[in-house]
Amino acid sequence: MGVPAYLLRTYWWAYVDPRAVRLFERQWLVNLILWGNFARLRDAALDALGGRLAGRTLQIACVYGDLTARLRARLAPGGSLDVVDVLRVQLENLARKLPGDPRVGLLHGDSSALDLESGSYDRALLFFLLHEQPAEVRRRTLSEAMRVLKPGGRLVIVDYHRPARCHPLFLPMLAILKTLEPFALDLWRHDIAEWLPPDAALSRCTAFGGLYQMLTVRKAVCEA
Ligand SMILES: C[S@@+](CC[C@H](N)C(=O)[O-])C[C@H]1O[C@@H](n2cnc3c(N)ncnc32)[C@H](O)[C@@H]1O
Repeated sequence: MGVPAYLLRTYWWAYVDPRAVRLFERQWLVNLILWGNFARLRDAALDALGGRLAGRTLQIACVYGDLTARLRARLAPGGSLDVVDVLRVQLENLARKLPGDPRVGLLHGDSSALDLESGSYDRALLFFLLHEQPAEVRRRTLSEAMRVLKPGGRLVIVDYHRPARCHPLFLPMLAILKTLEPFALDLWRHDIAEWLPPDAALSRCTAFGGLYQMLTVRKAVCEA
């Protein structure tokens, strides 16, 4: 499986180059990039996934910092966690953070074409992945996340959101995202629901003056 062109072109400095992994694998740095909101957003995502995670949990794409370790800590007896990422260097980094745990599977794969069985996970997490993807890849990622969920399963999404114009970070973030993360402004201009299947039931909250959003999406029990 090749590295997607958008990752190579836009995010080589953040994820692809092994030196980037060594640089960014610092929780204080990720926290700084999120203006001090990493722990708050991480914990909100974990709470939205559930207190004790029975059954099968899927994290779509690795995340710097301790999100996956905290997710693993919530596994109920018999519960399991799979993490899928398109970059082997990221999976190797995660393996160093979570050595030898048979409950955790590290899977090499593309979020937009998951090699996973339909209806096989109780819940899934997308933490700051969608803003990094071109619209068509984003749409397929969401469709794949919904496909692999069991009926009644839950997808939690945490990502950027357009803040009010009077937000003190409106202009700085506009400049940062325009320069470094060109696909992210899609999430300022469009509701994530536009890329979701129409029958998905969702709830949303925003944080930090609207700069971030969290969506909880429930897969319909009876498919139309
Ligand atoms: C979840 S996002 C960003 C998370 C957050 N900014 C952080 O602190 O790490 C980064 C991850 O997404 C992965 N990724 C990007 N595109 C992907 C795709 N199409 N399929 C699977 N993983 C992907 C990258 O390899 C990287 O490990």
